Amino acid sequence: MAVTQIGLAMFGLLIIITVTTPWIGLLIFGIVITFAVVQYFYTRTSAQLRRLDLGSRTPLYTLLTDTVNADGLCTLQAFKSQQHFTDINSKRVQASQKPFFLVKARQRWLVGQIKMSVSFINAALICFVVALQHSTSAGLFAFALIQAMSLMERLNWFFTTWVDVEICIVAAGRIKEFVDWVPEEAIQPQKDHELRLAKEKTGMWPTQGGIVFDTVVARYRPELDPALHGLAFHIRAGERVGVVGRTGSGKSTLLAVLFRKINIKKGQILVDGTNISGISLDMLRSGMTLIPQDPVLLEISMHANLDIEGKHTDEEIWRALELSSRFPSKLDEVVTGSSRFSRGQKQLLALARALLRQRNVVCLDEATSSIDVETDQAMQQTLHSSFGAATIITIAHRISTVQDYVRIIVLDNGRVVENGSPTELWKYLEGVDDKPDAA
Ligand SMILES: Nc1ncnc2c1ncn2[C@@H]1O[C@H](COP(=O)(O)OP(=O)(O)O)[C@@H](O)[C@H]1O
Ligand SMILES: [Mg+2]
Repeated sequence: MAVTQIGLAMFGLLIIITVTTPWIGLLIFGIVITFAVVQYFYTRTSAQLRRLDLGSRTPLYTLLTDTVNADGLCTLQAFKSQQHFTDINSKRVQASQKPFFLVKARQRWLVGQIKMSVSFINAALICFVVALQHSTSAGLFAFALIQAMSLMERLNWFFTTWVDVEICIVAAGRIKEFVDWVPEEAIQPQKDHELRLAKEKTGMWPTQGGIVFDTVVARYRPELDPALHGLAFHIRAGERVGVVGRTGSGKSTLLAVLFRKINIKKGQILVDGTNISGISLDMLRSGMTLIPQDPVLLEISMHANLDIEGKHTDEEIWRALELSSRFPSKLDEVVTGSSRFSRGQKQLLALARALLRQRNVVCLDEATSSIDVETDQAMQQTLHSSFGAATIITIAHRISTVQDYVRIIVLDNGRVVENGSPTELWKYLEGVDDKPDAA
């Protein structure tokens, strides 16, 4: 709106000057053409610079959020790494200043060019006034001169705003890039649609919860070694399976591929006989529940945090909270700064969330790692009693967590090394438990 207003005002102003001294019209015409050409290249360069600027700031912001939060700060203080991180920070600040400097420099350059051109027009106007002092009315000249004074300010404002708008569009472009960036590959719309219809009928997918890992190979990035080397096992519907293994053995990766956080390279995963690579992420992830090691609480009311889909009443939520723990909080209270809750409390809240969702596949990734042994046992009992026929996959960092499970899968270096009942595996598990990094 303001751009149009100022644009029109400028247009009127140029007409006044041109009417007063038609020769200046030619000069203005030349300058406008020059600006149009400059603006074309200038905007492109600016957009690229802005992209570089944003890109170079991201590592800085990431480092800032990682180190300033309570966990990060404590960790680096405990390891006495302040100096190391200060150095990293200085390097990143310097790296981010380079494109920033160029962004500022090209802004100054544009302002300089505009000022110079306007001074040129004004000087020409004055020369014409002096040369043609007898031919045109003095009043008209005075009016044109006064108007010309404000030309610089308006032209400056007009161009900088115009370019700023184009540059800001870069931010929108980046968001669009992120949205389009992760294509949902290999979706079979027909299959997805069929499942959706089935889900509408039965109210739930998966209806049984049987899971098959068929020689699954997965890696985090193409240049890295696979994190899973041909993982193969079956989990029957309703079975409770514990997954153990050392840190880095691929336990979390197993769940990451099941929820398609990373895509598999070879093999397939079937849930209730359906290859999960063919269905939409929304369908897949809404069909199963994951209780992560470090659950996320959003800065919204406790009610909305626990009942993301907004389908449950306060009474149901209180029941779920009572089942998961006796959590002393009010449902309408807005969760401010999730650090108010300990990790153990967040894990209990995540369990309450899972209890409300009631899916047929429930996965826990070391979900009781920050909870004391007694609460862990109580949580396991809740899981056993509240998830009737659901398939439960529990990644455990304590052997005691999964000792009541029907089956235990032991992973090592992305492979299944043992797969059997706890008693069969007791010896092996004791061996793993002895090691300090057993997880
Ligand atoms: N985000 C990641 N990027 C690259 N490699 C990863 C990533 N997460 C895990 N890995 C690697 O994958 C392997 C398995 O890790 P993970 O599944 O997290 O193990 P676990 O949960 O059993 O401790 C490890 O070698 C680990 O270094
Ligand atoms: Mg893990």
